[in-house]
Amino acid sequence: MSELNIGLIGAGRMGAFHGETITDRIPQANLYAIADPMLGAAEKLAQQLNKNSKAYTAPLDLINDENVEAVVIASPARTHASNVLAAIRQGKAVFCEKPMAVNMEKADEIVQALEKSNTLMQVGFNRRFEKGYNAAHEEVKAGYIGTPQLLKSITRDPKLNGAESIPEWTIFLETLIHDFDALRYLNPGAKPVEVYAAADALVRPDLKKSGLLDTAVVTIKFDNGALATAEANFQAVYGYDVRAEVFGSEGMMTAGGIRESSMTRYNKQGISYDTSRYDQNLLFDAYVDELRSFTDCVLNNKTPYATAEDARWALKIALASIESVQNDRPVKIENYALI
Ligand SMILES: NC(=O)c1ccc[n+]([C@@H]2O[C@H](COP(=O)([O-])OP(=O)(O)OC[C@H]3O[C@@H](n4cnc5c(N)ncnc54)[C@H](O)[C@@H]3O)[C@@H](O)[C@H]2O)c1
Repeated sequence: MSELNIGLIGAGRMGAFHGETITDRIPQANLYAIADPMLGAAEKLAQQLNKNSKAYTAPLDLINDENVEAVVIASPARTHASNVLAAIRQGKAVFCEKPMAVNMEKADEIVQALEKSNTLMQVGFNRRFEKGYNAAHEEVKAGYIGTPQLLKSITRDPKLNGAESIPEWTIFLETLIHDFDALRYLNPGAKPVEVYAAADALVRPDLKKSGLLDTAVVTIKFDNGALATAEANFQAVYGYDVRAEVFGSEGMMTAGGIRESSMTRYNKQGISYDTSRYDQNLLFDAYVDELRSFTDCVLNNKTPYATAEDARWALKIALASIESVQNDRPVKIENYALI
């Protein structure tokens, strides 16, 4: 196999970016087919990216297409697990956007299905592919900052759009899920044992009654003694802000940032720089590198860098956080509640 035939499920914002990456940025990958239930969406994206790509409305038809060797899933979160399972059962390699599933039954089913299969799966935790996060992970693992004691992970989105239609608990299941994985990644080998979470609607207090949570802080205790916080807000007026910090007995590492470029402006007002306003700008290379790595793993039978087991851990922390908010108390990770 020299070129990987990929089927893309979901032709929205993230699907379009991944489709472009498969078509233009990874020579070993071919955008063989696209599926999206919205009439005309798959055809439209195929017209833009690769006129030879087949277009389906039913994701299962794409998964069952015998020429599709790997599936990239970029549909809404609550549709992921069933297509992941269908693809694994067909022996197709899977790249799935986060979250892999929204409940532990499905997450466990996926991990078990993978164990019984000859295929592999990667999850869209793109911060693992961001050069600063990756370097920090390697240095923490090598012991350069001694024993991790405090960790911090931040996600602040630039603008709260479509607030009325955001599904319940999105801040934990779709936003902070990145931070939960980043904290595990930056505290290598340590297990999260307990969480305590607080969340509110501070950007749109008018939507609190309808269940919106746009601001949250989660504290996490790890079994190596480290204490961590993950925080998110859906509207940072100054840009898209994704950062992390690990403080240890021998020093500190930081990763991530907000700069649009390395340019710094010095003038009468002082010193300033432009900030990124869009996730696909700030993390462009990480989004491309995660799919490049996935293609390499499938073609050369390597283990992915962000696995289903990683996704399962991040989901556990998210579900425990939800239970913590519901009951306003700390929650042991092993006792997380199902929602
Ligand atoms: N890694 C990241 O930083 C990041 C950033 C943004 C989005 N995402 C993830 O990407 C996924 C898609 O997000 P988006 O922003 O592109 O959403 P979107 O709404 O722009 O696109 C979703 C697409 O999926 C299609 N769709 C709806 N139901 C479907 C189904 N049952 N099967 C297949 N397709 C279906 C819709 O018609 C739409 O075209 C989500 O899981 C989201 O969490 C990840």
